Amino acid sequence: MNLLGAQVIKLSDEEFKLFRDMVYEYSGILFQDHKRYIIENRLSKRLKQLNFSTFKDYYYFLKYDRKRDDELVEVMNLLTINETYFFREPGQLRHMIQVGIPEVLKTKTDRTLRIWSAACSTGEEPYSMSILIKESGVLPAGYKLEIVGTDLSANAVEKAREAKYRKISFRSTDAKYMRHFVSQGLEYQVNSDIRLPVRIERANLLNPLDMSRYKNIDIIFCRNVLIYFDKESKQKVIDSFQKALQPKGYLYIGHSETLYGISEAFRMSNFGEGVVYTKK
Ligand SMILES: C[S@@+](CC[C@H](N)C(=O)[O-])C[C@H]1O[C@@H](n2cnc3c(N)ncnc32)[C@H](O)[C@@H]1O
Repeated sequence: MNLLGAQVIKLSDEEFKLFRDMVYEYSGILFQDHKRYIIENRLSKRLKQLNFSTFKDYYYFLKYDRKRDDELVEVMNLLTINETYFFREPGQLRHMIQVGIPEVLKTKTDRTLRIWSAACSTGEEPYSMSILIKESGVLPAGYKLEIVGTDLSANAVEKAREAKYRKISFRSTDAKYMRHFVSQGLEYQVNSDIRLPVRIERANLLNPLDMSRYKNIDIIFCRNVLIYFDKESKQKVIDSFQKALQPKGYLYIGHSETLYGISEAFRMSNFGEGVVYTKK
């Protein structure tokens, strides 16, 4: 039984290792031993839906069935942690408006500002950026804005595209920004002018083919996801960011994350409310 009283299917030591390695290889997310209950609890329901009685049977399905790719998408929907909200870690967003964007505009050779919100979950981060850029007027007339939000979870991507949010997503939102939303029952939808520059796509940070789609980016936000990765996966992701970014492009990562010992391709600066990395 789990905490909600639902019957869970037992995950043996051997099965845990098989699932842990499969998830790690696919996504870079590393489930340590003390997190095995997450796999057991969250996937048990799926096993029952598909009529598998053991994790081993489900593992072989995921490994060899011709529907394995679609089912792996389901697995990642169930195992990712999609916690996010509007205007999270506002110091970094402020820095982007006051320093990041003005600085990258100085060296740009074209008139499109490209921002990538990598691992954006349900989209609150890219829409927060779009609101702040519009309100601040930091982008000079004649410039085009492109914000791409990406995530591994297909469910999160679908929600981000819908752009409809419940109150919980606004727990850190100043009331003055609510004019960019229209209330629809229990939800608030992002206004179309804020949605317009934002494109949402499913992309796996660990998949080189997915990552190769992102080029000439001026600013990357990748916050609160590297904590789930080990050193090797972090290095792969940062290497992709280094390739995607323009020279002197900006990279913002989560407050509890660091590139120390991961990459030498970036210069770190401390701006009081946090740190920011620029491509050397
Ligand atoms: C805690 S949320 C962070 C959302 C947002 N960046 C923020 O800071 O509020 C972490 C997100 O990382 C995504 N994620 C985990 N592994 C990923 C991968 N390999 N590729 C892309 N996204 C991934 C999850 O699906 C989840 O939505």
